[in-house]
Amino acid sequence: MTVLIPEDAIRERVREIATELNADFTGRIFTVVGILTGSLIFLADLVRRLEHRHQIGLLQASSYRGTATTPGILVLNTGLLPEIRGRHILLLDDILDTGATLSQVVAHLHGLGAASVKTCVLLRKIGRQTVPFEPDYVGFSIPDAFVVGYGLDFNDDYRHLPYIDVLPEGTAV
Ligand code: XMP
Repeated sequence: MTVLIPEDAIRERVREIATELNADFTGRIFTVVGILTGSLIFLADLVRRLEHRHQIGLLQASSYRGTATTPGILVLNTGLLPEIRGRHILLLDDILDTGATLSQVVAHLHGLGAASVKTCVLLRKIGRQTVPFEPDYVGFSIPDAFVVGYGLDFNDDYRHLPYIDVLPEGTAV
């Protein structure tokens, strides 16, 4: 495998994002919401660098691929979330690809009565977005390749890698 983003580069970027968040969220009690399962490791590293009080919640987003004529369907499981109404939310995801997941989760959180929703993604794929959506915080912009590691998986494998890699050529996606 070719290492796309080494462990120390991730650590440094997470530290930089936390510094930005510590400045932007001064004086606010907020809730960090991670989208399962890919954001787990990013969330665990990031929250330990946040200086202000916050709650942590998780939700699951499963997308079912559509056909050429029907869009994919996103199914959300929000049973693990704490109270969202009136809360300032920092929503975390591992990667922004088409933008469909984050835009729908943001809309859902507003529907649950969130006071505000900011979004933070570790990775953003260049040239893949089909849904207009601008995340507030981005770790790294990456080329259009299937990546694994640091929470990102292929068939639920590779999540444990401490770095981010392009999946080897020839591995079926
Ligand atoms: P959308 O298209 O909704 O996709 O922005 C976001 C979700 O798609 C998954 N995804 C990936 N997972 N390596 C992965 O392990 C990738 O390269 C990749 N691209 C998209 C991921 O679950 C993300 O939350």
